[in-house]
Amino acid sequence: MSMKLKGRPIMQQKPKGTYDLLPNETIKYQALENHIKKLMELYGYAEIRTPIFEHSSVFHRKTELSDMVTKETYNFKDKGDRDLTLRPEGTAGAIRAYVENKLFANQGLTKLYYLGPNFRYERPQKGRFRQFYQFGIEAVGIKSSSLDAEVIALSYKLIASLGLKQVKIKVNSLGDIASRSHYKDALTLYFEGHRSELCSDCQRRITENPIRILDCKIDSHKPFVKEAATPSDYYSEEAKKYFSEVLSYLDSMGINYEVDKRLVRGLDYYGHTVFEVEANIKGFGAQNVLGGGGHYEHLVQELGGPDLDGVGIAFGMERLMMALECENIQLHEDVKPDFFIITFDKKIHQKALGLLTKLRDLGFKGDIDHESKGFKGQLKLAVNSKAKYFIIIGEEEIEQGLFTLKDSFTQEQEKVTLETLIKKLGK
Ligand code: HAM
Repeated sequence: MSMKLKGRPIMQQKPKGTYDLLPNETIKYQALENHIKKLMELYGYAEIRTPIFEHSSVFHRKTELSDMVTKETYNFKDKGDRDLTLRPEGTAGAIRAYVENKLFANQGLTKLYYLGPNFRYERPQKGRFRQFYQFGIEAVGIKSSSLDAEVIALSYKLIASLGLKQVKIKVNSLGDIASRSHYKDALTLYFEGHRSELCSDCQRRITENPIRILDCKIDSHKPFVKEAATPSDYYSEEAKKYFSEVLSYLDSMGINYEVDKRLVRGLDYYGHTVFEVEANIKGFGAQNVLGGGGHYEHLVQELGGPDLDGVGIAFGMERLMMALECENIQLHEDVKPDFFIITFDKKIHQKALGLLTKLRDLGFKGDIDHESKGFKGQLKLAVNSKAKYFIIIGEEEIEQGLFTLKDSFTQEQEKVTLETLIKKLGK
C-alpha cells in the first residue's frame, strides 16, 4: 500500500564546499587514479588506507601552528567523549599508522601512497573545497638528499606523464634545525619592527612562529613581508651541502625546476627540502598549487616513533583534474557497450534475459529494457546506449534459432546463429 507523505519534503542540498561527482565525471577521476596507481607501482610505492578521522592529537600537535591545523579542522566529540578530527591532510595519519604498526621495523625505507578525502573548513572558491581529495606519498625511515630528489622527480614524472605542459616545479630548502632557529630569530626581530602593520594573528606569530607570517592570507602580500629575509640567508654549512646535493641530483635526472627562495610551505613539520607544483594555465584561477610537499625531520618522533625522517608530497585531485581539462587532456576512453537486446514481447523477454546473462558471462558489455517498452521505446534506449550492435529477437528468430544483428554504425543487419553473434561481438 502506498502512503502519501504529508506536506512537501524539502529538497536537501550538499554542504557548502562539497560537490557530487556524477558518473560522467567519476569516470575521469577513475582514469586519473588508475594512471597514478601505475606510476606508484613503477616507483615502488604501496597503498596505505588510514581512517578519515583520527584522535585530534594526531593533527593538533604542540609544534603545528599552521592555520590549517589551528583554524580549519573539523573537530568533534564522539559519544564516548573522545576528541576526534576529520583528517585535513594525509601525512600525519600515514605516519601515525607507520609508527603504530611498527613499519619501521621492516626495513630502512618504507614507501607509502594514499588516495582519499580530506576536510578543511576553508572559504570555498574555484579549486578550493571543504571536502577535497588528495593523492599523496610518504617515503619514511631514512634521511637522504637523493630520496628528496626522487620524490620531486616522481612529481615531475606524474605531471609529464599526464601530458601537462604549463606546470612548474618550485624547490627550496628551509635548512636544518640550527638554520631554522637562526632564521626564526631574525624574522622575529624584523617583524617586531612592523608589529602595528600586522594582523592580530601575525602579531601573535611574531614570537610563536614568525615563518607563518610569510604565508598568512592577510599579511603575506604586504611589501615589508615580501622583503623579509629568506631561509637561505641563514643556512648552516650542512644545510647548504644537503640542498646543493638535492639540486645536483635533480639536474642529473633531467628535472626542470626553479629555486624559489621564498617558498616556505604552509605546514610546520617541514625541514630541509620543500617543493610545490604550480599550474600556470590561463583561466586556472588563484588556487594554482597542484601539489606540495617536503622533508620532515621530527614528525615520526612526535607521533611516538623513533627518530626517523620522511619526505612526501600530496596533490589535490580536483586541481589535477582542472589542469587536465584546461589543457584539453582526456585520460579515459569512451568505451561503448557491445550490444543492446531488443525483443518483441514478454515471452521473448525471458529468453532474452538468458542471452543477456550468457553474453555478460562471456565478458560482453550490454543491456536490455526492463520496463516492457514497445519496439520503438526499446530502439530509443538502444540508440541512447550507443551500443555497437543491436540484437533483435522476435517470434521468427526464435523459430529459426537465429538472432537479428544490426550494426548501429553501418545500419547493416543480418540473421546470425548464436555462434556467429558471439564471434561478431568479439571483433
Ligand atoms: P598541502 O599543501 O596542505 O600539503 O596540500 C597539498 C595539496 O592539496 C595542495 O597543493 C592542493 O592541491 C590540495 N588542497 C589543499 N587544500 C585544498 C582544498 N581546500 N581544496 C582543494 N584542494 C586542496 C599537505 O597536505 C601535505 N600533507 C603534503 C605532504 C605530504 N607533505 C609531505 N608529505
